[in-house]
Amino acid sequence: METKRLVYLVAVVFAVFIIFQYIEFPYGDVVSSLFYASKGKNVINETHPHENSSQIPQIVKNITRFDGSNTSPPGVLEKDKKTIYDRGDDVASKNLELERNFSNVSNSFQDYEVPSDNKSSANEVIPSNQRAIGEIVTISEMHEMLVHNRASFRSMKPRWSSAVDQELLNAKLQIENAPVNENDHTLHPSLYVNVSRFKRSYELMEKTLKVYIYKEGEKPIFHQPQAVLKGIYASEGWFMKHMKANKHFVTKKPKEAHLFYIPFSSRMLEEKLYVVDSHSHKNLIQYLKKYLDLISGRYNFWNRTGGSDHFLVACHDWAPSETKKYMNNCIRAICNSDVKNEGFELGKDVSLPETTIQSSKNPLRQFGGQPPSKRSTLAFFAGRMHGNLRPILLNHWENKDPDMKIFKKLPKSKNNKNYIEYMKSSKFCICAKGYEVNSPRVVEAIFYECVPVIISDNFVPPFFEVLNWESFAVFLKEKDIPNLKNILVSISDARYLVMQERVKMVQQHFLWHVKPVKYDIFHMILHSIWYNRVFRVNPR
Ligand SMILES: *[C@@H]1O[C@H](CO)[C@@H](O)[C@H](O)[C@H]1NC(C)=O
Ligand SMILES: *[C@@H]1O[C@H](CO)[C@@H](O)[C@H](O)[C@H]1NC(C)=O
Ligand SMILES: *[C@@H]1O[C@H](CO)[C@@H](O)[C@H](O)[C@H]1NC(C)=O
Ligand SMILES: *[C@@H]1O[C@H](CO)[C@@H](O)[C@H](O)[C@H]1NC(C)=O
Ligand SMILES: *[C@@H]1O[C@H](CO)[C@@H](O)[C@H](O)[C@H]1NC(C)=O
Ligand SMILES: *[C@@H]1O[C@H](CO)[C@@H](O)[C@H](O)[C@H]1NC(C)=O
Ligand SMILES: *[C@@H]1O[C@H](CO)[C@@H](O)[C@H](O)[C@H]1NC(C)=O
Ligand SMILES: *[C@@H]1O[C@H](CO)[C@@H](O)[C@H](O)[C@H]1NC(C)=O
Repeated sequence: METKRLVYLVAVVFAVFIIFQYIEFPYGDVVSSLFYASKGKNVINETHPHENSSQIPQIVKNITRFDGSNTSPPGVLEKDKKTIYDRGDDVASKNLELERNFSNVSNSFQDYEVPSDNKSSANEVIPSNQRAIGEIVTISEMHEMLVHNRASFRSMKPRWSSAVDQELLNAKLQIENAPVNENDHTLHPSLYVNVSRFKRSYELMEKTLKVYIYKEGEKPIFHQPQAVLKGIYASEGWFMKHMKANKHFVTKKPKEAHLFYIPFSSRMLEEKLYVVDSHSHKNLIQYLKKYLDLISGRYNFWNRTGGSDHFLVACHDWAPSETKKYMNNCIRAICNSDVKNEGFELGKDVSLPETTIQSSKNPLRQFGGQPPSKRSTLAFFAGRMHGNLRPILLNHWENKDPDMKIFKKLPKSKNNKNYIEYMKSSKFCICAKGYEVNSPRVVEAIFYECVPVIISDNFVPPFFEVLNWESFAVFLKEKDIPNLKNILVSISDARYLVMQERVKMVQQHFLWHVKPVKYDIFHMILHSIWYNRVFRVNPR
């Protein structure tokens, strides 16, 4: 009897361990880590020669050391037991609860070296100012840079003081001292960098923010959103449309404005002024400069803060370079948000979501997708061979593996039906950069409830100020493309269900509505602009 019990116990411990490995160590190989574990402590040197590298999650070390006795971190084992025993129909929601505390642990795995890679190349976190050009910035490093920038950069001291500066300062203090309330059921904490701060900031925005919109500027480059309500640049059109129609935030009294909106369309600027094959943006830049001269000569708002309370919302690839020289003090909400390019500044500039709008009458057409159980394709990508990365992706994965549906541009179908069907029925949607870091696929994946796999080094994902992207998306380094499938299959079913559930919860922030609603994409864009303005305020 006793022996039987002992055998049983050993079996259970073993099973727990195996599943545990499988769940928490997604890139790991169960057998080899078992082998290592049996050798005790020295394992650490072997598995992770750079033991002190801050890139390697603490938890991984502890797991490797785990030998079945109770030396393992209690929380982890507890969680794992629950994952095993609680499997059921509502497994996703239960896992969500369980995973909450582990968001950082599971986050860090995405930046963690793939075992088959050369270990000696493991990254260490290098402060951004020491970073050599050409290196890549991981998401966790972006968070560090953001914190650093917030602490060290302020906007220009205003030439004269204004009541709005004090209001912004008050807002900042209130956000920093936000009451901790994580039990709000409308916003799931796992999705946010800090849900309490976000909630407070959003409330204060609703209560306080006033935006002045310049009347100057000629159509269609200025003031004509109707021209850009469809296609992949539609974010700038929809934002302009909603901002101009807004009664709550817009003020006619510039003196009470916290923000000044420069209502131009980067898409129309290109369409109207770019000389085909000229390869020159000079005239586009000049056009914007003339506009700036006009408003800064006519009014003193620009000069008061050097433009740091002004903002623009522009989705065209060229927007960063067009605005870099003369509008770099503005808050630039841009789709092409490359942390290493065109002066994009974390904490000031905002990553604008690139959205594909099929119907300007009904931006929610085709919304949603299959439940996880009916997502039969492991990974999907289709697109033109823009840039250097996609050919590499295709070389490795086109027609190589039945689980990997990796294509060039799909043949035309009515309303892009094939593409959308794949997005709705795949587990993971590959968002590989094109010529630039941004891709409409990121928001498309969320729209169709597919977990995004972002392969675009240095891309700052949308609403980076507030969203904890790694809790619902997978980030891969470009060099990890050969390992793409291994990495995806190493994400356990339980983990996948959690991520997919989160994708559905974060959707509300990425939807354009004909009439804006609370927490939708319009308000989120405005919020990120407000948030950055608040945190850079520098009152006299
Ligand atoms: C592993 O590291 C420990 C301490 O860091 C060291 O004492 C030990 O000799 C190392 N073992 C091997 C095999 O390198
Ligand atoms: C890591 O360890 C090496 C060798 O022990 C040391 O030179 C280096 O400064 C350490 N790095 C960090 C970030 O602690
Ligand atoms: C990992 O183990 C070390 C030593 O046992 C411990 O100090 C540390 O807190 C553990 N880390 C976690 C995340 O549990
Ligand atoms: C999760 O975090 C909360 C707050 O930090 C803590 O009270 C709780 O014990 C944690 N739960 C687990 C399972 O680690
Ligand atoms: C998660 O991150 C927070 C803030 O960075 C930290 O305080 C906390 O200890 C981390 N939790 C785990 C389980 O590592
Ligand atoms: C691993 O990196 C080291 C140092 O950069 C290099 O000498 C070695 O050739 C690399 N090995 C492989 C297999 O790439
Ligand atoms: C979120 O921010 C609030 C206010 O600054 C702070 O009290 C709280 O500790 C933060 N929560 C986390 C998880 O960092
Ligand atoms: C703002 O500054 C510019 C450049 O210094 C100047 O040309 C312009 O006249 C100023 N605007 C006002 C309203 O004073």
